[in-house]
Amino acid sequence: MRLDRFLSDMNVASRSELRKAIRNRQVTVNGETIRDPGFLLSPEEQPEVICRGKCVEYQELQYFMLNKPAGVISASEDRKQKTVVDLIGEEKRRDLFPVGRLDRDTEGLLLLTNDGQLAHRLLSPKKQVDKQYFARISGKATAEDSARFAAGIRYDTELTARPARLEILTAGEESSEILVTIQEGKFHQIKKMVAALGGGKQVLYLKRLSIGALRLDESLRPGEYRRLRQEELAVL
Ligand code: URA
Repeated sequence: MRLDRFLSDMNVASRSELRKAIRNRQVTVNGETIRDPGFLLSPEEQPEVICRGKCVEYQELQYFMLNKPAGVISASEDRKQKTVVDLIGEEKRRDLFPVGRLDRDTEGLLLLTNDGQLAHRLLSPKKQVDKQYFARISGKATAEDSARFAAGIRYDTELTARPARLEILTAGEESSEILVTIQEGKFHQIKKMVAALGGGKQVLYLKRLSIGALRLDESLRPGEYRRLRQEELAVL
């Protein structure tokens, strides 16, 4: 792999800035100053690369858990709006993307990675991975609502959700708090399923709590993130 690519994959700077830095003797590989941006190195051999005094470790695959805040979109880049990838500040790979989408106003667990295979495993409807959400809804949640979710509620002219779990945490006349577990992830799915219950019920607040066995680290405030731990990766 070329030295400039090694550094740009790790998001140290833009490729053109890196070429300049290399030519200006600001990069060493295993103690030797390299002046050729096309210098070839093998990340597997874990070379010691220092760029402007900072050691750069190459990571093939990266995994971050983000507590997505409301107001950012689930995309890698956008010309106008802030994206979830913009929130990851540390040396991240340029090919990082969010695993699935949460609506702009939805909070909670979002995985960011460059591991396409893992993303496919988690998102494929065939794999039936549970995604659990906390929701505050308008109106009083009832046992009948749970039964309708369990039976597979029709929520669009053509779409019927697969059987889903609706657990009631609190049920007031004005609003209720529920846990919803689905295995799909269609556009606005939970909002539409709740609206399909009728009686003017609407999602007021939505937060994803888990994907399969991976739970949101509640010590992360909205907008905060951390790398996945080895044992968390193992359960995925
Ligand atoms: N369902 C929704 O309606 N919105 C989300 O962001 C996720 C699931």
